[in-house]
Amino acid sequence: MMPPVVETAWGAFDREDFAGGFTWGTATAAAQVEGAWDVDGRGPSIWDTAAHRARRPRGRTLIGDGSTGDVACDFYHRYREDIALLADLGFGAKRFSVSWSRVLPEGTGRIEPRGLDFYDRVVDRCLELGVEPWVTLFHWDLPQALEDRKGWANRSILGWFEEYVDLVTGRLGDRVKRWMVFNEPVSFVLLGYLTGEYAPGRRNPARFLAALHHVNLCQAVGARVVRANVDDAVVGTTHYLTDVHPTGRTPLHRKAAVAGDAFINRVYLEPNLGLGYPTDDCRFLAPVSRFVKAGDDRAIEVDFDFLGVQYYTCLRAPLVPIPGLWTVPGYATDHRRHNISGMGWEITPEGLYDTLAKVHAYGRYPSLVITENGASEPDRVVGGRVHDSRRLLYIQEHLAQVARARRDRLPVDGYFVWSLLDNWEWSDGYWPRLGLVHVDYETQQRTVKDSGRWFREFLKA
Ligand code: FCB
Repeated sequence: MMPPVVETAWGAFDREDFAGGFTWGTATAAAQVEGAWDVDGRGPSIWDTAAHRARRPRGRTLIGDGSTGDVACDFYHRYREDIALLADLGFGAKRFSVSWSRVLPEGTGRIEPRGLDFYDRVVDRCLELGVEPWVTLFHWDLPQALEDRKGWANRSILGWFEEYVDLVTGRLGDRVKRWMVFNEPVSFVLLGYLTGEYAPGRRNPARFLAALHHVNLCQAVGARVVRANVDDAVVGTTHYLTDVHPTGRTPLHRKAAVAGDAFINRVYLEPNLGLGYPTDDCRFLAPVSRFVKAGDDRAIEVDFDFLGVQYYTCLRAPLVPIPGLWTVPGYATDHRRHNISGMGWEITPEGLYDTLAKVHAYGRYPSLVITENGASEPDRVVGGRVHDSRRLLYIQEHLAQVARARRDRLPVDGYFVWSLLDNWEWSDGYWPRLGLVHVDYETQQRTVKDSGRWFREFLKA
Protein backbone atom coordinates (compact mmCIF):
# COMPACT_ATOMS: atom_id res chain seq x y z
CA MET A 1 0.00 0.00 0.00
CA MET A 2 1.30 3.47 -0.86
CA PRO A 3 1.83 5.66 2.20
CA PRO A 4 -0.82 8.39 2.44
CA VAL A 5 -0.17 11.87 1.12
CA VAL A 6 -0.83 14.64 3.62
CA GLU A 7 -2.29 17.75 1.98
CA THR A 8 -2.10 21.14 3.67
CA ALA A 9 -2.59 24.75 2.67
CA TRP A 10 1.21 24.99 2.63
CA GLY A 11 1.86 22.04 0.37
CA ALA A 12 1.68 18.26 0.47
CA PHE A 13 4.08 15.59 1.68
CA ASP A 14 4.37 11.89 2.28
CA ARG A 15 6.94 9.52 3.75
CA GLU A 16 8.86 9.43 0.49
CA ASP A 17 9.81 13.08 1.00
CA PHE A 18 11.74 11.97 4.04
CA ALA A 19 13.39 8.86 2.66
CA GLY A 20 17.05 8.08 3.27
CA GLY A 21 18.06 8.29 6.91
CA PHE A 22 15.87 11.19 8.00
CA THR A 23 15.80 11.51 11.83
CA TRP A 24 12.43 11.79 13.55
CA GLY A 25 12.51 12.81 17.19
CA THR A 26 11.07 14.84 20.00
CA ALA A 27 12.86 17.34 22.23
CA THR A 28 12.75 18.17 25.94
CA ALA A 29 14.90 20.13 28.39
CA ALA A 30 16.03 19.07 31.87
CA ALA A 31 14.57 22.02 33.77
CA GLN A 32 11.21 21.63 32.06
CA VAL A 33 10.57 17.95 32.69
CA GLU A 34 12.87 16.40 35.28
CA GLY A 35 11.57 17.87 38.53
CA ALA A 36 13.51 16.33 41.47
CA TRP A 37 15.14 19.73 41.80
CA ASP A 38 16.92 18.94 45.09
CA VAL A 39 17.11 15.16 44.82
CA ASP A 40 20.36 13.17 44.85
CA GLY A 41 22.58 16.13 45.57
CA ARG A 42 21.45 18.42 42.73
CA GLY A 43 22.34 22.07 43.27
CA PRO A 44 19.96 24.94 42.49
CA SER A 45 19.92 26.47 39.02
CA ILE A 46 19.01 30.03 38.14
CA TRP A 47 15.51 28.85 37.21
CA ASP A 48 14.98 27.35 40.67
CA THR A 49 16.07 30.64 42.19
CA ALA A 50 13.81 32.66 39.89
CA ALA A 51 10.81 30.48 40.71
CA HIS A 52 11.48 30.17 44.44
CA ARG A 53 11.79 33.92 44.89
CA ALA A 54 8.02 34.05 45.36
CA ARG A 55 8.48 32.25 48.68
CA ARG A 56 10.45 35.13 50.13
CA PRO A 57 8.74 38.10 51.76
CA ARG A 58 8.05 40.63 49.00
CA GLY A 59 9.81 38.22 46.61
CA ARG A 60 9.05 38.62 42.92
CA THR A 61 8.89 35.52 40.79
CA LEU A 62 9.60 35.63 37.08
CA ILE A 63 7.09 32.86 36.51
CA GLY A 64 3.72 34.08 35.27
CA ASP A 65 1.61 31.52 37.11
CA GLY A 66 3.82 31.52 40.22
CA SER A 67 4.75 27.88 39.70
CA THR A 68 8.11 26.13 40.04
CA GLY A 69 9.82 23.30 38.18
CA ASP A 70 10.29 21.39 41.45
CA VAL A 71 8.22 18.45 40.21
CA ALA A 72 7.34 19.32 36.58
CA CYS A 73 6.74 16.00 34.75
CA ASP A 74 8.76 14.04 37.31
CA PHE A 75 10.79 12.67 34.43
CA TYR A 76 13.61 12.00 36.91
CA HIS A 77 11.56 9.13 38.27
CA ARG A 78 9.44 8.30 35.20
CA TYR A 79 12.07 8.33 32.46
CA ARG A 80 11.69 4.61 31.74
CA GLU A 81 8.01 4.88 30.86
CA ASP A 82 8.40 8.21 29.08
CA ILE A 83 11.14 6.93 26.81
CA ALA A 84 9.05 3.83 26.12
CA LEU A 85 6.18 6.13 25.13
CA LEU A 86 8.44 8.00 22.73
CA ALA A 87 9.54 4.73 21.13
CA ASP A 88 5.94 3.57 20.96
CA LEU A 89 4.99 6.70 19.00
CA GLY A 90 7.54 5.64 16.40
CA PHE A 91 10.29 8.21 17.00
CA GLY A 92 13.87 7.09 16.53
CA ALA A 93 15.57 9.91 18.43
CA LYS A 94 15.27 11.68 21.74
CA ARG A 95 16.73 15.12 22.18
CA PHE A 96 17.23 16.05 25.84
CA SER A 97 19.50 18.25 27.91
CA VAL A 98 21.78 17.62 30.85
CA SER A 99 21.29 19.72 33.96
CA TRP A 100 24.68 21.21 34.81
CA SER A 101 23.80 21.57 38.50
CA ARG A 102 22.80 17.91 38.74
CA VAL A 103 26.32 16.79 37.88
CA LEU A 104 28.30 19.76 39.28
CA PRO A 105 26.09 21.20 42.03
CA GLU A 106 28.27 24.28 42.46
CA GLY A 107 28.89 24.56 38.72
CA THR A 108 32.57 23.71 39.07
CA GLY A 109 34.67 21.50 41.32
CA ARG A 110 32.72 18.89 43.24
CA ILE A 111 31.17 16.19 41.04
CA GLU A 112 27.83 14.61 41.97
CA PRO A 113 28.05 10.97 40.82
CA ARG A 114 24.34 10.36 41.33
CA GLY A 115 23.60 13.02 38.74
CA LEU A 116 25.89 11.37 36.21
CA ASP A 117 24.34 7.99 37.01
CA PHE A 118 20.92 9.38 36.13
CA TYR A 119 22.00 10.43 32.64
CA ASP A 120 23.69 7.07 32.20
CA ARG A 121 20.37 5.40 32.89
CA VAL A 122 18.51 7.70 30.49
CA VAL A 123 20.99 7.00 27.71
CA ASP A 124 20.91 3.26 28.35
CA ARG A 125 17.15 3.21 28.33
CA CYS A 126 17.13 5.01 24.97
CA LEU A 127 19.59 2.55 23.48
CA GLU A 128 17.71 -0.42 24.88
CA LEU A 129 14.63 0.74 22.97
CA GLY A 130 16.46 1.62 19.77
CA VAL A 131 16.14 5.37 20.32
CA GLU A 132 19.17 7.50 19.50
CA PRO A 133 20.08 10.00 22.24
CA TRP A 134 20.79 13.56 21.05
CA VAL A 135 22.20 15.51 23.97
CA THR A 136 22.05 19.28 24.43
CA LEU A 137 24.80 20.37 26.80
CA PHE A 138 23.20 23.60 27.92
CA HIS A 139 19.49 24.38 27.88
CA TRP A 140 19.38 27.51 30.06
CA ASP A 141 19.63 26.10 33.61
CA LEU A 142 22.91 27.63 34.76
CA PRO A 143 23.99 26.59 38.27
CA GLN A 144 23.08 29.42 40.64
CA ALA A 145 26.59 29.30 42.15
CA LEU A 146 27.98 30.44 38.79
CA GLU A 147 25.41 33.19 38.34
CA ASP A 148 26.48 34.44 41.77
CA ARG A 149 29.82 35.05 40.04
CA LYS A 150 28.13 36.89 37.13
CA GLY A 151 27.39 33.77 35.11
CA TRP A 152 27.81 34.12 31.36
CA ALA A 153 28.97 37.70 31.81
CA ASN A 154 32.14 36.48 33.54
CA ARG A 155 34.86 35.39 31.14
CA SER A 156 35.86 32.63 33.58
CA ILE A 157 32.85 30.77 32.22
CA LEU A 158 35.03 29.61 29.35
CA GLY A 159 36.87 27.45 31.87
CA TRP A 160 33.78 26.44 33.85
CA PHE A 161 32.00 25.39 30.69
CA GLU A 162 34.99 23.43 29.46
CA GLU A 163 35.13 21.53 32.76
CA TYR A 164 31.41 20.74 32.59
CA VAL A 165 31.47 19.62 28.95
CA ASP A 166 34.54 17.52 29.62
CA LEU A 167 32.77 15.76 32.48
CA VAL A 168 29.56 15.01 30.59
CA THR A 169 31.11 13.97 27.30
CA GLY A 170 33.76 11.91 29.10
CA ARG A 171 30.98 9.99 30.81
CA LEU A 172 28.38 9.62 28.04
CA GLY A 173 30.53 9.89 24.92
CA ASP A 174 31.02 6.15 24.51
CA ARG A 175 27.27 5.87 23.75
CA VAL A 176 26.13 9.35 22.74
CA LYS A 177 27.39 10.53 19.36
CA ARG A 178 25.05 13.45 18.61
CA TRP A 179 25.76 16.58 20.62
CA MET A 180 24.42 20.09 20.65
CA VAL A 181 26.50 22.66 22.49
CA PHE A 182 23.71 25.15 23.23
CA ASN A 183 20.00 25.56 23.08
CA GLU A 184 19.04 28.94 21.62
CA PRO A 185 21.65 31.36 22.92
CA VAL A 186 19.44 34.31 21.95
CA SER A 187 16.84 33.27 24.49
CA PHE A 188 18.96 33.00 27.59
CA VAL A 189 21.36 35.80 26.65
CA LEU A 190 18.85 38.41 25.45
CA LEU A 191 15.95 37.58 27.75
CA GLY A 192 18.20 36.62 30.67
CA TYR A 193 20.56 39.61 30.68
CA LEU A 194 18.87 42.42 28.72
CA THR A 195 15.09 42.28 28.96
CA GLY A 196 15.01 40.39 32.26
CA GLU A 197 12.11 38.15 31.23
CA TYR A 198 14.08 34.96 31.80
CA ALA A 199 16.38 33.86 34.59
CA PRO A 200 18.60 35.36 35.90
CA GLY A 201 16.25 38.29 35.19
CA ARG A 202 18.84 41.02 34.61
CA ARG A 203 18.43 44.21 32.60
CA ASN A 204 22.00 45.15 32.05
CA PRO A 205 23.31 46.01 28.56
CA ALA A 206 26.96 45.51 29.54
CA ARG A 207 26.33 42.07 30.99
CA PHE A 208 24.22 41.22 27.96
CA LEU A 209 27.06 42.02 25.57
CA ALA A 210 29.64 40.23 27.72
CA ALA A 211 27.40 37.15 27.95
CA LEU A 212 26.80 37.26 24.20
CA HIS A 213 30.51 37.14 23.43
CA HIS A 214 31.32 34.50 26.03
CA VAL A 215 28.53 32.24 24.80
CA ASN A 216 29.76 32.60 21.23
CA LEU A 217 33.27 31.67 22.40
CA CYS A 218 31.87 28.73 24.36
CA GLN A 219 30.34 27.33 21.17
CA ALA A 220 33.90 26.71 20.04
CA VAL A 221 35.05 25.50 23.47
CA GLY A 222 32.18 23.03 23.64
CA ALA A 223 32.66 21.68 20.11
CA ARG A 224 36.38 21.23 20.68
CA VAL A 225 35.89 19.28 23.93
CA VAL A 226 33.18 17.07 22.45
CA ARG A 227 35.42 16.18 19.52
CA ALA A 228 38.37 15.48 21.82
CA ASN A 229 36.36 13.15 24.04
CA VAL A 230 33.96 11.41 21.67
CA ASP A 231 34.97 9.13 18.82
CA ASP A 232 32.84 9.74 15.72
CA ALA A 233 31.14 12.72 17.34
CA VAL A 234 28.57 14.66 15.35
CA VAL A 235 28.58 18.14 16.83
CA GLY A 236 26.10 20.89 16.29
CA THR A 237 24.35 23.61 18.17
CA THR A 238 20.81 24.95 18.08
CA HIS A 239 19.49 28.42 17.41
CA TYR A 240 16.15 30.09 17.67
CA LEU A 241 15.86 31.47 14.16
CA THR A 242 13.10 33.61 12.84
CA ASP A 243 12.17 35.21 9.59
CA VAL A 244 12.14 38.97 10.19
CA HIS A 245 9.72 41.17 8.22
CA PRO A 246 9.36 44.96 8.12
CA THR A 247 6.12 46.39 9.48
CA GLY A 248 5.88 49.11 6.83
CA ARG A 249 7.22 50.16 3.45
CA THR A 250 9.55 53.02 4.30
CA PRO A 251 13.36 52.71 4.24
CA LEU A 252 13.23 53.11 8.01
CA HIS A 253 11.01 50.06 8.30
CA ARG A 254 13.38 48.06 6.11
CA LYS A 255 16.31 49.21 8.23
CA ALA A 256 14.50 48.11 11.37
CA ALA A 257 13.98 44.64 9.89
CA VAL A 258 17.66 44.36 8.93
CA ALA A 259 18.63 45.47 12.45
CA GLY A 260 16.19 42.99 13.97
CA ASP A 261 17.64 40.16 11.89
CA ALA A 262 21.17 41.11 12.98
CA PHE A 263 20.10 41.38 16.61
CA ILE A 264 18.11 38.15 16.84
CA ASN A 265 19.67 35.80 14.30
CA ARG A 266 22.99 36.82 12.81
CA VAL A 267 24.80 37.87 15.97
CA TYR A 268 24.68 34.28 17.21
CA LEU A 269 25.64 32.69 13.90
CA GLU A 270 28.17 34.86 12.16
CA PRO A 271 30.96 35.19 14.76
CA ASN A 272 31.25 31.39 14.78
CA LEU A 273 31.58 31.43 10.99
CA GLY A 274 34.46 33.91 11.24
CA LEU A 275 32.29 36.75 9.91
CA GLY A 276 32.46 38.93 13.02
CA TYR A 277 29.62 40.79 14.72
CA PRO A 278 27.05 42.46 12.44
CA THR A 279 27.48 45.80 14.17
CA ASP A 280 27.06 47.87 11.00
CA ASP A 281 23.48 46.67 10.74
CA CYS A 282 22.76 46.96 14.46
CA ARG A 283 24.67 49.74 16.19
CA PHE A 284 23.38 48.71 19.59
CA LEU A 285 25.77 45.76 19.42
CA ALA A 286 28.89 47.83 18.71
CA PRO A 287 30.16 47.99 22.33
CA VAL A 288 30.56 44.21 22.29
CA SER A 289 34.11 45.06 21.15
CA ARG A 290 34.91 45.93 24.79
CA PHE A 291 34.73 42.22 25.58
CA VAL A 292 36.64 40.91 22.58
CA LYS A 293 40.26 40.03 23.38
CA ALA A 294 43.22 39.46 21.09
CA GLY A 295 42.91 36.08 19.42
CA ASP A 296 39.16 35.77 20.00
CA ASP A 297 38.39 36.23 16.32
CA ARG A 298 40.13 32.91 15.61
CA ALA A 299 39.14 31.13 18.82
CA ILE A 300 35.46 31.78 18.13
CA GLU A 301 35.34 29.95 14.80
CA VAL A 302 33.59 26.58 14.68
CA ASP A 303 32.85 24.16 11.88
CA PHE A 304 29.72 22.47 13.09
CA ASP A 305 28.65 19.16 11.60
CA PHE A 306 25.05 20.31 11.68
CA LEU A 307 22.99 23.34 12.60
CA GLY A 308 19.91 22.88 14.77
CA VAL A 309 17.17 25.18 13.51
CA GLN A 310 14.41 26.00 16.00
CA TYR A 311 11.54 27.67 14.31
CA TYR A 312 8.17 28.67 15.74
CA THR A 313 7.11 31.95 14.19
CA CYS A 314 8.19 34.93 12.14
CA LEU A 315 8.92 38.33 13.56
CA ARG A 316 7.46 41.64 12.47
CA ALA A 317 10.15 44.08 13.44
CA PRO A 318 8.86 47.15 15.23
CA LEU A 319 10.63 50.43 14.54
CA VAL A 320 11.98 50.60 18.06
CA PRO A 321 13.28 47.11 18.65
CA ILE A 322 13.76 46.81 22.42
CA PRO A 323 12.18 45.48 24.56
CA GLY A 324 8.99 44.74 22.62
CA LEU A 325 10.85 42.82 19.96
CA TRP A 326 9.51 39.45 20.94
CA THR A 327 5.88 40.27 21.27
CA VAL A 328 3.44 40.19 18.42
CA PRO A 329 1.46 43.36 19.07
CA GLY A 330 -2.27 43.14 19.43
CA TYR A 331 -2.70 39.43 18.81
CA ALA A 332 -3.54 38.26 22.32
CA THR A 333 -4.55 34.61 22.15
CA ASP A 334 -7.77 34.68 20.21
CA HIS A 335 -7.47 31.69 17.90
CA ARG A 336 -10.70 32.38 16.14
CA ARG A 337 -9.69 35.79 14.84
CA HIS A 338 -5.99 35.31 14.23
CA ASN A 339 -3.77 32.70 12.74
CA ILE A 340 -1.81 32.24 15.95
CA SER A 341 -0.84 29.46 18.28
CA GLY A 342 -1.74 29.45 21.97
CA MET A 343 1.17 31.58 23.14
CA GLY A 344 0.28 34.35 20.71
CA TRP A 345 2.78 33.31 18.05
CA GLU A 346 1.77 33.99 14.46
CA ILE A 347 1.67 30.80 12.38
CA THR A 348 3.90 31.30 9.31
CA PRO A 349 5.10 27.95 7.93
CA GLU A 350 6.79 29.44 4.86
CA GLY A 351 9.15 31.25 7.26
CA LEU A 352 10.64 27.87 8.10
CA TYR A 353 11.53 27.29 4.45
CA ASP A 354 12.97 30.81 4.14
CA THR A 355 14.99 30.35 7.32
CA LEU A 356 16.43 27.05 6.11
CA ALA A 357 17.32 28.62 2.77
CA LYS A 358 19.00 31.55 4.50
CA VAL A 359 21.25 29.50 6.76
CA HIS A 360 22.06 27.14 3.92
CA ALA A 361 23.22 30.14 1.89
CA TYR A 362 26.15 30.62 4.29
CA GLY A 363 27.52 27.48 2.63
CA ARG A 364 28.98 26.29 5.92
CA TYR A 365 26.53 23.78 7.38
CA PRO A 366 26.76 20.28 5.91
CA SER A 367 23.47 19.35 7.52
CA LEU A 368 20.42 21.16 8.90
CA VAL A 369 18.16 19.61 11.51
CA ILE A 370 14.91 21.11 12.78
CA THR A 371 15.66 20.60 16.47
CA GLU A 372 12.43 22.27 17.65
CA ASN A 373 9.08 23.12 16.13
CA GLY A 374 5.67 22.97 17.72
CA ALA A 375 2.70 24.86 19.08
CA SER A 376 0.92 25.52 22.32
CA GLU A 377 -2.81 24.90 22.33
CA PRO A 378 -5.35 24.92 25.16
CA ASP A 379 -5.70 21.12 25.25
CA ARG A 380 -8.20 19.29 27.38
CA VAL A 381 -8.69 15.62 28.01
CA VAL A 382 -12.26 14.63 27.09
CA GLY A 383 -13.25 11.02 27.47
CA GLY A 384 -9.64 9.87 27.51
CA ARG A 385 -8.73 11.70 24.29
CA VAL A 386 -7.15 15.04 23.45
CA HIS A 387 -8.32 16.37 20.10
CA ASP A 388 -5.49 18.79 19.36
CA SER A 389 -6.35 19.33 15.71
CA ARG A 390 -4.77 22.80 15.55
CA ARG A 391 -1.40 21.48 16.74
CA LEU A 392 -1.54 18.66 14.23
CA LEU A 393 -2.29 21.14 11.47
CA TYR A 394 0.58 23.36 12.61
CA ILE A 395 2.99 20.43 12.52
CA GLN A 396 1.77 19.18 9.15
CA GLU A 397 2.01 22.63 7.58
CA HIS A 398 5.58 22.97 8.80
CA LEU A 399 6.45 19.45 7.63
CA ALA A 400 5.14 20.42 4.20
CA GLN A 401 7.71 23.22 4.16
CA VAL A 402 10.46 20.84 5.30
CA ALA A 403 9.50 18.51 2.45
CA ARG A 404 9.62 21.46 0.04
CA ALA A 405 13.10 22.34 1.32
CA ARG A 406 14.27 18.76 0.74
CA ARG A 407 12.80 18.72 -2.75
CA ASP A 408 14.81 21.90 -3.39
CA ARG A 409 17.93 20.03 -2.23
CA LEU A 410 18.45 21.84 1.05
CA PRO A 411 20.28 19.35 3.33
CA VAL A 412 17.54 18.96 5.95
CA ASP A 413 18.13 15.68 7.76
CA GLY A 414 15.86 15.61 10.76
CA TYR A 415 12.81 17.00 12.53
CA PHE A 416 12.21 17.10 16.29
CA VAL A 417 8.84 18.08 17.68
CA TRP A 418 8.79 20.35 20.68
CA SER A 419 7.77 18.55 22.76
CA LEU A 420 7.15 14.97 23.83
CA LEU A 421 5.32 15.99 27.00
CA ASP A 422 3.48 19.09 28.17
CA ASN A 423 5.98 20.67 30.54
CA TRP A 424 7.11 23.65 32.60
CA GLU A 425 7.29 26.42 30.06
CA TRP A 426 9.85 28.70 31.73
CA SER A 427 8.44 32.11 32.71
CA ASP A 428 4.98 31.09 31.52
CA GLY A 429 4.74 28.17 33.94
CA TYR A 430 2.36 25.32 33.24
CA TRP A 431 -0.45 26.89 31.24
CA PRO A 432 1.08 26.51 27.77
CA ARG A 433 0.82 22.94 26.58
CA LEU A 434 3.12 21.94 23.73
CA GLY A 435 3.36 18.16 24.10
CA LEU A 436 2.29 15.35 21.83
CA VAL A 437 1.39 13.80 25.16
CA HIS A 438 -0.84 15.52 27.69
CA VAL A 439 0.36 15.59 31.30
CA ASP A 440 -2.05 15.88 34.20
CA TYR A 441 0.21 17.58 36.74
CA GLU A 442 -1.93 16.42 39.71
CA THR A 443 -1.65 12.74 38.92
CA GLN A 444 1.25 12.66 36.44
CA GLN A 445 -1.05 10.75 34.12
CA ARG A 446 0.09 10.78 30.46
CA THR A 447 -2.48 10.84 27.62
CA VAL A 448 -1.33 10.63 24.03
CA LYS A 449 -2.96 13.45 22.06
CA ASP A 450 -4.31 13.08 18.54
CA SER A 451 -1.09 14.65 17.21
CA GLY A 452 0.92 11.87 18.89
CA ARG A 453 -1.44 9.26 17.48
CA TRP A 454 -0.99 10.76 14.02
CA PHE A 455 2.80 10.42 14.31
CA ARG A 456 2.41 6.80 15.37
CA GLU A 457 0.51 6.08 12.15
CA PHE A 458 2.62 8.27 9.90
CA LEU A 459 5.97 6.95 11.11
CA LYS A 460 4.80 3.37 10.80
CA ALA A 461 3.88 3.79 7.13
C1 FCB B 1 11.95 27.21 22.83
C2 FCB B 1 12.75 26.56 23.95
C3 FCB B 1 12.05 25.40 24.58
C4 FCB B 1 10.57 25.66 24.74
C5 FCB B 1 9.96 26.10 23.44
C6 FCB B 1 8.48 26.34 23.48
O1 FCB B 1 12.37 28.51 22.62
O2 FCB B 1 14.00 26.13 23.48
O3 FCB B 1 12.68 25.10 25.79
O4 FCB B 1 10.38 26.59 25.73
O5 FCB B 1 10.59 27.29 23.03
